[in-house]
Amino acid sequence: MIKKSGSPHPVSANNPCPFLRALVATGQLADDREPLAKVAAVVATTARAGDGCPVLPRNVVFAIASVANGCSPVSLVRTQWTGLQLNALRGGPLDKKGVGSRILNARGRVDAKEVSRLQGFAKEKSNADGSSELGLGLAELRSYMDANFARAAGHRRLIDRTLMLGEWPVLLRVMGKDGPGGRYLGLQDVVDLFKHRRFPERMNKRLRIGA
Ligand code: HEM
Repeated sequence: MIKKSGSPHPVSANNPCPFLRALVATGQLADDREPLAKVAAVVATTARAGDGCPVLPRNVVFAIASVANGCSPVSLVRTQWTGLQLNALRGGPLDKKGVGSRILNARGRVDAKEVSRLQGFAKEKSNADGSSELGLGLAELRSYMDANFARAAGHRRLIDRTLMLGEWPVLLRVMGKDGPGGRYLGLQDVVDLFKHRRFPERMNKRLRIGA
């Protein structure tokens, strides 16, 4: 059982991934170094707590984590031996340096303007229980990612648009809800993840966080 002890664990501003930040805040991963196999296992287990038990292959997560602190031979060997340094992801090869959502600034704070901008891409989505809420399906996420890439013209790498495919669409797979119109990310769930470093309550129950 994963138990949250009191207040959330502090998270370094140099960890720009909202998903990994929530794993640190809930005490499932350390803020600094963790073995690659542990990172892969924790990410995969957390993903399985999503609706419909989404599968994120551990070997894929392991491979992504292997290059996240640097691609030079020295960095690659160090990461294999000593693990992923979560508080040194900013500035690494996966850091898009402002080509993404810009919701988190370099100090790890949420930019309210960028949250409103994200909301502008959301649409009213029906839930399985008949209720409705603002959310983003794959079509809305594609428009959002295209717009993020477009506004960064002049200071973006080609690979940045490809990297996005491992971020928002994967979050949709993990934290999405299935409605009659297809799977979508609840806007409030996304805001809670970025702002409060919290997974949706339905996932916490399955993970037994805070139980
Ligand atoms: C070991 C695995 C992972 C590593 C090393 C990693 C690393 C990163 C990094 C460096 C960023 C910042 C990119 C930027 O500059 O915008 C990022 C952003 C992000 N990641 Fe992760 N990540 C991992 C796993 C995941 C998983 C499993 C998910 C989803 C379930 C996820 C979802 C996201 C999202 C949604 C963003 C935000 C992109 C934006 O703000 O536009 N990540 N990640």
